[in-house]
Amino acid sequence: MSDAPNQNKGPIARFLAAPPDSVGKTVFIAVSLCLVASMIVSAVSVALRPLQEQNKLKDKQANVLQVAGLFEPGMDVLEGFSVFEPQVVELETGTFTDAFDAATFDDRAAAADPELSVRLSDDPAGIGRQTKFATVYLLRNDDGSLDKVILPIHGYGLWSTLYGFIALEENGNDIFGLQFYDHGETPGLGAEVDNPRWKTLWGGKKLADEDGSLQITVAKSVPPAGVDYHVDALAGATLTSVGVDNLVRFWMGEAGFGPFLENLKSGGI
Ligand SMILES: Cc1cc2nc3c(=O)[nH]c(=O)nc-3n(C[C@H](O)[C@H](O)[C@H](O)COP(=O)(O)O)c2cc1C
Repeated sequence: MSDAPNQNKGPIARFLAAPPDSVGKTVFIAVSLCLVASMIVSAVSVALRPLQEQNKLKDKQANVLQVAGLFEPGMDVLEGFSVFEPQVVELETGTFTDAFDAATFDDRAAAADPELSVRLSDDPAGIGRQTKFATVYLLRNDDGSLDKVILPIHGYGLWSTLYGFIALEENGNDIFGLQFYDHGETPGLGAEVDNPRWKTLWGGKKLADEDGSLQITVAKSVPPAGVDYHVDALAGATLTSVGVDNLVRFWMGEAGFGPFLENLKSGGI
């Protein structure tokens, strides 16, 4: 009998009249909290996206500076980065193209775009699709001659795709440095690719021998070509090391920057 007045009320009035610990009110509060929280998280995520993109770009630029030996702690990265001349290379011909703005061209996005990339049947670097165009960074001497060229490289390690850069001297064959700016290998094992002592091993090594045959190797022992072409594999992380070996050889080879490096050697750049 005491419920009779409630039965005549509308659903909202009945909801308001229900006790605070009723199932309806508990579910309502829980759902409302979830909605408000997800709206706040989405709004913050959207608002911070430009900042995240900016930081990612800055990090990449800092890595280009690092691999070229120009990074100094506390430096103005944007200003420091302005010494580089970005160029988009068409990988098949190894020549520069002005079909894209080199300052904003996104190699990673291009690798996912069917029009700007190809699916690899022979895929030693484990990347699936390969961009047809890649951004390289030229460093010039005061007289305009080429000093170094910084090339993007990436490929699969043990757990993740490693993204990085290799810096070459103007002859397109001597390695100045190599470093990765993004990967998910295990700290203390595969992530030792970031160890400055290991990265130092790359300086002074050569890609190809005098016959032009690609010889650079990451391995536990020195290859027949000799120590000039050998970088020691990481201790306890052979699988990541094999991945680095594969990706470096892929990107420095015919299917990667090979044609570009040939043009560089013959003075065509
Ligand atoms: C939890 C865990 C994480 C590992 N992470 C890596 C890694 O990031 N890179 C790698 O090459 N090996 C990693 N390993 C080791 C490999 O399974 C493998 O033992 C190793 O690559 C062999 O290297 P070694 O021949 O130099 O000992 C990991 C092993 C475990 C158990």
